[in-house]
Formats: sequence, C-alpha cells, structure tokens
Amino acid sequence: MSLQIKTLDEYRQVYTRSVADPEGFWAEQAAEFQWKKPWKQVLKWNFREPRIKWFLGGKLNITENCLDRHLEKRGKQVALIWEPNDPSKKARKITYKQLYAQVCQFANALKAQGVKKGDRVCIYMPMTPELSVALLACARIGAIHSVVFAGFSAVSLADRIKDAHATVVLTSDYNARGAKNIPVKTVVDEALGLGCDTVKTVIVHQNTGDPVKMMEGRDIWWHDAIKGKRKSCKATTMDSEDMLFILYTSGSTGKPKGVVHTHGGYMVYTDFTFRNVFQYQEGDVYWCTADIGWITGHSYILYGPLLAGATTMMFEGVPTYPDAGRFWDVIQRHKVNIFYTAPTAIRALMAAGDQWINNRRMPSLRVLGTVGEPINEEAWHWYNEKVGKKRCPIVDTWWQTETGGILISPIADVTPTKPCFATLPLPGVQPCLVDASGKEITGNDVEGMLCIKFPWPSILRTTYGDHERCRTNYFAAFKNLYFTGDGARRDADGYYRIIGRVDDVINVSGHRIGTAEVEDAINKTPGVVESAVVGFPHDIKGQGIYAYVIVNDRLEDAAAFRQKVVDTVTKQIGPIAKPDKIQIVSGLPKTRSGKIMRRILRKVAEGDTSNLGDISTLLNPEVVEEIKVGASRV
Ligand code: WTA
Repeated sequence: MSLQIKTLDEYRQVYTRSVADPEGFWAEQAAEFQWKKPWKQVLKWNFREPRIKWFLGGKLNITENCLDRHLEKRGKQVALIWEPNDPSKKARKITYKQLYAQVCQFANALKAQGVKKGDRVCIYMPMTPELSVALLACARIGAIHSVVFAGFSAVSLADRIKDAHATVVLTSDYNARGAKNIPVKTVVDEALGLGCDTVKTVIVHQNTGDPVKMMEGRDIWWHDAIKGKRKSCKATTMDSEDMLFILYTSGSTGKPKGVVHTHGGYMVYTDFTFRNVFQYQEGDVYWCTADIGWITGHSYILYGPLLAGATTMMFEGVPTYPDAGRFWDVIQRHKVNIFYTAPTAIRALMAAGDQWINNRRMPSLRVLGTVGEPINEEAWHWYNEKVGKKRCPIVDTWWQTETGGILISPIADVTPTKPCFATLPLPGVQPCLVDASGKEITGNDVEGMLCIKFPWPSILRTTYGDHERCRTNYFAAFKNLYFTGDGARRDADGYYRIIGRVDDVINVSGHRIGTAEVEDAINKTPGVVESAVVGFPHDIKGQGIYAYVIVNDRLEDAAAFRQKVVDTVTKQIGPIAKPDKIQIVSGLPKTRSGKIMRRILRKVAEGDTSNLGDISTLLNPEVVEEIKVGASRV
C-alpha cells in the first residue's frame, strides 16, 4: 500500500527514517509501481559534476503507471474533467479507459509521423484535454516533450524549438481565454519562419474551429493524424534515467534554460508528494488551476494525480471570466474537494470584492493549496476565511521547475499551519540555510539562502544541451549543495518561510522572469541605448516589472515610446513580461568596474529612497538624484 502520512508523529518518524536511509525509503515508495525491470541500484550521485541517478538500471514507462496500471480497477472512473472557457459549454469527462485509448491513438499517430524514442516534440497548445493527451502520448513512445506556455511569443517559441532541436510541433488553431480568441497556430507559423529548420511536421488540433492557414506538406490536422489509428499502443521501454521532458525556465542570466526530468525519479516523487501533501482520498475531485505550460501543471495537474489514480480537473479559462465568481462556481458544480491555486489569483479575486464569494456554499472543499510565490498574510487569511471557511488546511507548497515536485510544505491535516509559512520539509528533503560564504546557518530563528543537501528523486538532471550551465547555476555557488536561488527564514519552531528570490529573477503573478531576458528584449526597441530591470512590490501580481531605460535622443513623445517598449517586450517574450513601469533616465548607477548597482534601482522602484547606502563609490553618483526625482513621476 502506498504510504500516506496521517499524523504529525508519523511524519516525524517517516522523515527521520527518510534521512537516515534515503535509499531504503525511496525504494519502498518506488516498489508501488509497475516496472518492466527492477532497478539494480537506488541512487548514485555527486553534486560536484553534478551526476544524479535514481533507480539505476530500472526499466519502465511512466504512462503505464498513469494509465494501464489503473485500468482494471478504475477503467470507468473519471480521470480528467475538462471545464471549458465558456461556462455555457458542457464540461468534458474522460475516464481512465478513454484517456488510455486517446493517448494510445495519438501515440500511434506520432509514430506514423516518424516520431521516435528520444525525439523532441514541442507542444504549444491551450488548456484542452488534447494537451494532456499530447504529453502522455509523447511519453508513451519515449519522445521527449517540451511544452511551451501558449502565452509566449513567436520569438520565445522559436528559441525553445531551436534549443531542443524539436522535429515536431503540436498546436491548436486558437486559444479561447476569457473574451479572447488567441490565434495560436499563427504564432507557430511565425516561429517556424524564424529558422526552426529541424521541424518537419506540425499537428494542429481543431479547438475553436475558426479558420487557420495550413501549410501543405508540413501541417496536418490532429483529427486526420489519428484517423484509423489503433487505440492501443505498446509503451516504449524506458530507462529510469531516460529523459521524460524538457521545460524551459528563466534564470538570472541569459536565455531560459531547458530543465530536464527523467522517467523514474520524477514518477516516484510526484506521486508520493501528490498523495501526501493534498491527502488525496479515493473519489475526491482535485483541481489545480495552473497551466500545463508550467511545472505545476506537469506535476500536479497531470502526472502526480494520474499516477495516484485521481480525478483531476483542467480549466481552460481565466479566474475572472465571465466574472470573478468563476472559480467558486466551478468548485460548486464539480464538487471540488482539493483546490490548488496561486497567490496572484487569490489576490485578484480578493480585490474583486467579497460579493462574488459571500453567499457561496462550497461544502465539498477539504484542502486548499497555494504555489508559485510567497503568499502575503492578507491573502492567506482571506483564502482561509472566505474560501476555506476556516475548516480547510492551507498547504503553502514551495518548490521549483528544477525540483520537479513539492519540497517544503505542510501535509494537509497533519502539519499545523502558520500563515505564509511553507513549514517543514517533506520526507527525503534535506534543506539548509547558508550565509554568503556558504557556511551553514544552524539553529532556529535565522535567515539565509536556501539550499538542499541531498538529492530527492525528481531533482533536475541537467539543462538540455548544456550541462555546464546546470552546474554553474545550481551546484557551483556552494560546495556540495543544490542552491535554490531563494532566501528563507527558519523560525523558532523550525518552520520555513520563503522570502523570495535572492538572484536576478523576478516573480510576476507566479511566473518566473529573468531580468536579463527583459532587458535584452527592451534593448531591441529602436532608440534604446541601455536598460535595467528590477522587481517592485505589486498588489495583485506580487512583483511588477520596473524598467529603467536610457534613450539615444530627446524624446518627442514619451507615451508613444513607452508603448513601443511594451510592444517590443510582448513580441520578444510575451505579454507576461510587459514592464508595468518604465522610467526614462539619462544614466544608470554603475560601479567603477561598470556593474549596474541594482540594489539602488530596486530601492527606488520600491519607493524607498530614504537610505540608499553609500553611493560615493559610484562612477556616476549624480544620476541617483535624477533617478529619485524621476521615479516619483512614473
Ligand atoms: C517561488 C513553481 C514562496 C520561489 C512551482 C521559487 C514560492 C520559484 C513558492 C519557482 C511558495 C514557488 N512560497 N515562493 N510556496 N512556490 N515559489 O520554477 O521563488 O515556476 O524559486 O516553480 O517560485 O518557480 P517555478
């Protein structure tokens, strides 16, 4: 029987055991799955190179564990509920048996298009059931999926396609989101025009049915691709350490990097954390509002829940369409038991006013979750009182694209919660705090940079095509530690509170954005000489994007120029990276070695100019005054 921790004492015992004997502990969890061949060794690792392997020599296919394994007992159980954007349209319910058939059929279609084990398939699709089918079908035949969030621009999509050398792109005609109908296929066409020479085939799912242009010899309709294909497909045998997927995420430098996860460890860890953190019970309806374009969707809409044999819901739309009561309406109609969302959504709904939630009865709700960014006290209490009616534990789950699954979080109804605290590490997770020199900060009531000492099964293995980058980004800052990029505090009870990023990554509405990426994009605007981007506190988004821009000429029309900057960023990255504030400056504060002093820019953006520290060592201290004065007018 799969382990589900039920009491705090049990958690403490399990945790102690998981640290004393990680291999024994994870081998026990892994034994619950269908392996085609057992592993020979549980773990082999060093953080130096890094080289991390779990369940060495084991053979499996994750989709057999998501689907085939459940057919006998749960064939008729709903695996996937799809709630469409348009509330007047009927929700789709897909049983495990049906999902199995659809995945197999599409897997056969991919094979017929020549897709083989190890090939990279880029998926750029809106939140439709076919998106889930697409990921699983790739995994079924050992192709590596690389999902790109369907809000990214053609330029970003092209970058990701090229980096992964994808041979096939899966897409849809349009993305119905709120009142918008976004032409997704057109974005793919544009991206492929930017030199993605490896792509031979584009499979297009007809979602809204509005007209699109198809390119002869390259594009094929999804419904044509599956025509006549069998609804069973032998799962390709994969090694535990074969790549399952690539997912691009932003770092503090350069372009987004492709985080790699593998079949074996990712499977064991997402299943374990899903069942335990959310305390999933037989028959529950579970809803995670994320998009499958992000890691949360991969691990906790799709893989984790399906591995656990759960009923998982996918939502096509947005929280405020047709009105700010949509989430509560969906929870009521589908009798959702476990609800997992992001602080930014909570804040937006809170700001919309309590009239949308006041008279709702949502007795089905049992567990609430949050992810993606630090939750503020006000939002935590609102979530607790208005949504959970003070009877649902809130699991504040801290994790990252690189970690594959939740690392620090309360276990629902087991770990006593505290507002804004991710609380305690899950079994097998060994966090520590270090100071700038890499020295571990022991004891409680302390603050430092959050690192992890020991691998867990779903830790990233590499960054695609550039292992050195993986090493320098995560394993080089501190010897023998995985560095998360987050700062955290450990309180008197040993509870962790995540403070936020300590690197040049900002978290906008729960989306990770590298300041360097945004600067690169801004610099492509005609007339821009240089720019610097920092985060600033934003009521709804958590952090907003503040851009300081130097222009090469006197501006005739500042408003038009700002719009150009916004348009350029939208074109280069996508609407999620649009600067909220743009300040035109004559210079940027720099050290004598030419480094931008972001600390000063951050303070000014935060509206705190009282104590900017010592600026006398700057190359150009005079710009600081100008920036301070200018900021009040942005
Ligand atoms: C932040 C999302 C505070 C953090 C799963 C991390 C959080 C980054 C929390 C990863 C949380 C995620 N409390 N901060 N509960 N969860 N973060 O890769 O800064 O999109 O490093 O993964 O989000 O973002 P990513």
